[in-house]
Amino acid sequence: MFRRLFIVRLLFLIPLASSRSNHSQEVENLLKLKSAFGENDEVFATWTHRNSVCEFAGILCNSGGNVTDINLGSQSLINCDGGGRITDLPFDSICDLKFLEKLLLGNNSLSGRISKNLRKCNHLRYLDLGINNFSGEFPAIDSLQLLEFLSLNASGISGLFPWSSLKHLKRLSFLSVGDNRFDPNPFAREILNLTALKWVYLSNSSITGKIPEGIKNLVHLRNLELSDNQISGGIPKGIVQLRNLRQLEIYNNYLTGKLPFGFRNLTNLWNFDASNNSLEGDLSELRFLKNLVSLGLFKNRLTGEIPKEFGDFKSLAALSLYRNQLTGKLPKRLGSWTGFRYIDVSENLLEGQIPPDMCKKGAMTHLLMLQNRFIGQFPESYAKCKTLIRLRVSNNFLSGVIPSWIWGLPNLQFLDLASNHFEGNFTDDIGNAKSLGSLDLSNNRFSGSLPFQISGANSLVSVNLRMNKFYGIVPDSFGKLKELSSLYLDQNNLSGAIPKSLGLCTSLVDLNLAGNSLSEEIPESLGSLQLLNSLNLSGNKLSGMIPAGLSALKLSLLDLSNNQLTGSVPESLESGNFEGNSGLCSSKIAYLHPCPRGKPQSQGKRKHLSKLNICFIVAAVLALFFLFIYVIFKIRRDRSNQTAHGKNNWQVSSFRLLNFNEMEIIDEIKSENLIGRGGQGNVYKVTLRSGETLAVKHIWCQESSHGSFRSSTAMLSDSNNKNNNREFEAEVATLSNIKHINVVKLFCSITCEDSKLLVYEYMPNGSLWEQLHERRGEQEIGWRVRQALALGAAKGLEYLHHGLIRLNENYRILLLEELLVTLPPVNLSSGFLLIKLQIPFISLLFTEYAYTTKVNEKSDVYSFGVVLMELVTGKKPVETEFGENSDIVMWIWSMSKEMKREMMMELINPSIEDEYKEDALKVLTIALLCTDKSPQARPFMKSVVSMLEKIEPSYKNNGEASYDESASDEITKVV
Ligand SMILES: *[C@@H]1O[C@H](CO)[C@@H](O)[C@H](O)[C@H]1NC(C)=O
Ligand SMILES: *[C@@H]1O[C@H](CO)[C@@H](O)[C@H](O)[C@H]1NC(C)=O
Ligand SMILES: *[C@@H]1O[C@H](CO)[C@@H](O)[C@H](O)[C@H]1NC(C)=O
Repeated sequence: MFRRLFIVRLLFLIPLASSRSNHSQEVENLLKLKSAFGENDEVFATWTHRNSVCEFAGILCNSGGNVTDINLGSQSLINCDGGGRITDLPFDSICDLKFLEKLLLGNNSLSGRISKNLRKCNHLRYLDLGINNFSGEFPAIDSLQLLEFLSLNASGISGLFPWSSLKHLKRLSFLSVGDNRFDPNPFAREILNLTALKWVYLSNSSITGKIPEGIKNLVHLRNLELSDNQISGGIPKGIVQLRNLRQLEIYNNYLTGKLPFGFRNLTNLWNFDASNNSLEGDLSELRFLKNLVSLGLFKNRLTGEIPKEFGDFKSLAALSLYRNQLTGKLPKRLGSWTGFRYIDVSENLLEGQIPPDMCKKGAMTHLLMLQNRFIGQFPESYAKCKTLIRLRVSNNFLSGVIPSWIWGLPNLQFLDLASNHFEGNFTDDIGNAKSLGSLDLSNNRFSGSLPFQISGANSLVSVNLRMNKFYGIVPDSFGKLKELSSLYLDQNNLSGAIPKSLGLCTSLVDLNLAGNSLSEEIPESLGSLQLLNSLNLSGNKLSGMIPAGLSALKLSLLDLSNNQLTGSVPESLESGNFEGNSGLCSSKIAYLHPCPRGKPQSQGKRKHLSKLNICFIVAAVLALFFLFIYVIFKIRRDRSNQTAHGKNNWQVSSFRLLNFNEMEIIDEIKSENLIGRGGQGNVYKVTLRSGETLAVKHIWCQESSHGSFRSSTAMLSDSNNKNNNREFEAEVATLSNIKHINVVKLFCSITCEDSKLLVYEYMPNGSLWEQLHERRGEQEIGWRVRQALALGAAKGLEYLHHGLIRLNENYRILLLEELLVTLPPVNLSSGFLLIKLQIPFISLLFTEYAYTTKVNEKSDVYSFGVVLMELVTGKKPVETEFGENSDIVMWIWSMSKEMKREMMMELINPSIEDEYKEDALKVLTIALLCTDKSPQARPFMKSVVSMLEKIEPSYKNNGEASYDESASDEITKVV
């Protein structure tokens, strides 16, 4: 028995013995590699002296028992000890493996430097170090002449890449070096000689200058990705030689000129995306690219017609051409083939009818055609398009009756038919629209009565039916819309009383019923709409007294003019508009007659006193209520803090490539790491074992579906519902795909039953708040920097506003809040928006201070106005010099009332250089526009950006110059 075992052992030893010296050396080399990872790793359990190297997990050998492959990709490897000390990988030992052909260490959390010893690995064919946290420059690798596959994307390397050493790598077919923060560098000529290349990924790697004509040498290329760089000039003609291209992505650059002649020969292309450049000319070269699946050319300067051949592209699934100057009609058969799901041709000059068959195969989710010149009826065929999520055709010349099933499409989240010539009824099918968040029918010729079944669409956040011909009563059932934030029914022919039930719409921020024939008294219940910011009931036939309850509201707009109201105007409402009510009196408002003196007044006074008492009681009750809420809040928070550690059923949805493990994050959600408190949860700074820092927002979800506190978004309440969770994840996925230089990156969400974590980029230099106010005196930032900050932030915000049109409006609120990383010290507890600027590491925080806890597009504009004011004056939003109950907006508005230049000049921060004071004044004027009391009067971000750009010095001095380099240099220095 023993003997047999011995013989078996002996047999094993025979091949080992024959090349003992090499193999024992290999064991030592691999154990050295293992030692970089500490003891614990299960991955290395088999890496011991007891095993032969060929039995080590992740190791492959050739027939001679020599190591050829190290495959340790995606193993969550971390090469630093508990104290955070990094052990650089021992490339000398690794490369001492004489037969090593594959070194695959991608998608781990490896850090430290990649040493020059890498060059000794001269048998390597595959090298993958991508998606790691290495630092420093990548060493020259001219000696790796057998290399076929090089992947270094998102590996953390920086500085200059050793492009010149690539010229010897004749066999290279896969080159992936993108997503690294290199120093700005031109497109490396060395690449052009690597004619074996099939795959090139250089997106987001600081490439400047032009794409060289010599790209034509790379005839085997199937994939070329150069997006998110600063590439200028035209698309080189040579590109038409690359007949094998399947995917060409060059979006987010500064490309100009036309699609080169001969582009039509790239018939293998299935994905072409050159969005967000300055391309011009027409699309005729794309006529023959019949294998296209996805075509993105939005935000360019393209003209001409959309080729009719697009209607025969059988694989086309997504077409995004918005914001160009395209003309003519859409091909009739467009999208009538399998898989078509997305079209956005908004903001062009297109005409003709909407193609009828884009949902023929039942896959379409997005139909976006706003701001064109489309005519005709809305095709009947879409009434059965149950997959539709967004349908937006506003600002066209469409007419006729909307097929009634459209109102009740079960997945539709946004229905926007505004500013067309539609007519007919708004039917009771709306009761089936369970997903609908935003409904805009404004400025059409719809008529008939409003369907009471609208209460079935209980996800509605925004309803805009203004400027139509609706008649009849306002249905009571509106009171069931608990998420409703804005309701515009103005300029119709509605009659009857304002339903008392509107007082149950506890989320209402804007209510406009002006220009109808509504009668009877204003319901007292409106006084319980705590979030109400704007109330317009003007131009009706309302009578009776103004309810005292309204004075409890913090309204930025109150218009009750042109009614038949009587009695005295409550004191706190005196800033409202009451004209055209002959029965109203006030001692303060000049255009109203004074209230009668004597007995009635003393009565009034007594009433007033008792009202004061009531106010007192109400205040006391409210205080108790909030105390109660706070206690519950705290209990839940503590509980959720516990569960954050206790439960293990967390689920991660990662949308970017991640190199951390969720438990690492969950363990760091503790009070020491708290950096801010927000409306929906706390923000933590989390440092991973790899040394990387992230910001994590912890949101608590409620057990009951509509908790009484702070769940300002539909998706967060009722989150126990599995569907909602899925929806949440889908939305986070969309958000995490947002790519904009001025917007902070969202990495993933981690959810469990009662908590959600949102993980995003951490901004080490904090917020603009800290930059402006907390480091005051240290180093004042100059005007050029302030201006660049303003423009960068404005562009980010503009992008969000446009980009978000493509999201459910419910969720944009979430986005705005979740982009927050740092909070200012004062209690500005409402809507936050963080914008990362062109220059990394500064972040902005916007908040609409006193008015509302709801955020919408125009309140972002308001907040942005506040930021501009802070930038120009250097003052905080609230300072004692503004006086009690005043803030920066009221202060500047009061100073600017007389519009005296000298007075305005005095507001400008003394640290701003004299030569720029004029420009600063212009920015202050824009700030005034943005902070107009009436949200409608505030400009859209689009025009804010263009106004700011007009002041931008680079535009003034160098004509067309792109983003001002010198300003960004200056900023980098300051930060
Ligand atoms: C394995 O390594 C030994 C020692 O270097 C060498 O003699 C042998 O040829 C190698 N075998 C193969 C198949 O590479
Ligand atoms: C690279 O290509 C250019 C032009 O195609 C040629 O002139 C040059 O000699 C090549 N360089 C090497 C190292 O092959
Ligand atoms: C496109 O391909 C056709 C046919 O192969 C060829 O004749 C033509 O020259 C090509 N055009 C360009 C600009 O390369």
